[in-house]
Amino acid sequence: MANRQGNCYAFASIGREPARPFPHLFRTRGQKPSAPPERRPALSTNHLIDLYSDTQTKPSAGMRKAMADAEVGDEQRGEDPSTNLLQERVAELLGKEAALFLPSGTMCNQIAMLVHCRQGDEIIGAEVTHLFTSEAGGASALAGAQTWPIRCERGIFKGADVTAAVRAPGRHNPISRVVIIEQTVNRGGGAIWSIDEIADVAAATKQHGLVLHMDGARLMNAAVSSGVAADIMTTHVDTAWTDLSKGLGCPVGGVLVGSRAFIDEAWRWKHRLGGALRQSGILAAAGLYALDHNIQKLAEDHENAVALGNAVAAIEGLKLFSPRIESNMVFFESTLPEISSRQIFETLLARGVRMGMTYGNMIRAVTHLDVSSDDITRAGEILGQVVADLKAGLRKAS
Ligand SMILES: Cc1ncc(COP(=O)(O)O)c(C=O)c1O
Repeated sequence: MANRQGNCYAFASIGREPARPFPHLFRTRGQKPSAPPERRPALSTNHLIDLYSDTQTKPSAGMRKAMADAEVGDEQRGEDPSTNLLQERVAELLGKEAALFLPSGTMCNQIAMLVHCRQGDEIIGAEVTHLFTSEAGGASALAGAQTWPIRCERGIFKGADVTAAVRAPGRHNPISRVVIIEQTVNRGGGAIWSIDEIADVAAATKQHGLVLHMDGARLMNAAVSSGVAADIMTTHVDTAWTDLSKGLGCPVGGVLVGSRAFIDEAWRWKHRLGGALRQSGILAAAGLYALDHNIQKLAEDHENAVALGNAVAAIEGLKLFSPRIESNMVFFESTLPEISSRQIFETLLARGVRMGMTYGNMIRAVTHLDVSSDDITRAGEILGQVVADLKAGLRKAS
């Protein structure tokens, strides 16, 4: 069956293990990137099942049409109607006064830190938080702030952890300025902060006079999965953002929200960093389309993740990072002494299922718009076969 947006890749050989079955995924230095093959005809099973990330979606036909038809103007002058509308809608969706369209989630985090922090300040958050691990040290390079990582399970910590982390006043000490929480927690296996957990951290943050920022790369996944509206999720935080280019299926973009004064200052940074655009309505139109069409579809991604998690749990020699699959991510690893997670990951890729390696020895699979429930069933079957074949190979060799 076709995936939900009919997206696909040509795939040559399931069963055999060619060295590089997906040439467009690999590139040797100096070589021109090969274009992705034409989309496959519907109903073929010979396509890459790409669970590498929810960033792998391609804009659907409907989204592309919305982009082509977008009303546009000069964003920098506040004259792009589509961008203005997207900002209004996301501000309302997340229950804040104002919003700012930005090219990426990373820029949402970085600009928030630039507004909140002064050089020498400190940002407190889970040790696994994206801002600390995966943004090229941007908080220190740009805002001049250092980070204080809290060790905690699945990236979720408590108000007491904040209190313990806050620096005492004193000339020798950095100034604790911001607490960051990630909704959902990427390296926490897609864990969702409950409202009570957010409220607990928010109370401590407020008590110490700090700012609470939410990295909402997958905030809409959290809202759909838990049934808690996005504006309730953000009630206790000062600033937040949601990504458009992950589960919502857009090619680019994130939207940062907060008070009017915060967004005015964020605008200044957007301009300074060269992120102020012109006819950005072409991109904002994708976001508007996603808000109208793709939010509820996240529920299917979550069902697919649970189905994949069940398949993993049923395979002897694999262990789920957490038995609770809360959103669209499934993390697991090999417990077989002579078969590594990497071997499983590489064999899976050779057989048409791409996942990611993350967090030490963990394999990560992320469900999204462009994988169907049939794809997930097939991915589970291929995974079972891969583990069985690797075990059989070991038996033969011994
Ligand atoms: C939790 C989290 N925050 C921030 C980002 C950065 O988003 P972007 O890739 O849009 O810059 C990501 C990307 O994967 C993420 O997972």
